[in-house]
Amino acid sequence: MSLSNAWSLPLVPSDASWLPIALADIDAVMRDHLHCERKAATSALSLLRSYPERADVVEWTVRLAHEETRHVVQVAQLLNRRSQTPGHDHGDDYAAALQKHVRKTEPGRLLDRLLVFAIIEGRSAERLAMLAGALTEPRERLLYENLADAEFRHRDGFLQLAAATDELWKSRAVELCAHEAAILARLPVVARIH
Ligand SMILES: [Fe+2]
Ligand SMILES: [Fe+2]
Repeated sequence: MSLSNAWSLPLVPSDASWLPIALADIDAVMRDHLHCERKAATSALSLLRSYPERADVVEWTVRLAHEETRHVVQVAQLLNRRSQTPGHDHGDDYAAALQKHVRKTEPGRLLDRLLVFAIIEGRSAERLAMLAGALTEPRERLLYENLADAEFRHRDGFLQLAAATDELWKSRAVELCAHEAAILARLPVVARIH
């Protein structure tokens, strides 16, 4: 699935302090990353539960869940190679704050859920690409490059579904990106993916 036009989410760049903070505790970032991939897989399946009548959403989300589950395996293997034990999920204040902007009733609710997924994929992709650019171990670098590419594709897949859901998708995406920028500005910068 590819976007029919070249429109992209207007996400602000991450704060310049994020990468050095992340690199200073890269073990914590990778442990958090495992849970991010797990949550991406389960969240994708939640769309299947909510919208079984939307064949395009179902086809996309089941493939996505499969791919995110593969990412869970890849990050678990990475932790294993680094002799790291996975940690507990510390929650994700960023994603929780974004979810508060999802409307409670349809038809707006589906559009907002798709756009929030697109934003989280886009933000994750940006940060995984930053990590890829900074990691020195070749296998780790390649893994993060590939995962960043995948999350950029996922962002665009969610945007494609949003475009098929509501003709006002771009203006709502701009609104939600402004909320995301405010959330990032409010939350502390920590050694996690978000
Ligand atoms: Fe992923
Ligand atoms: Fe993803």
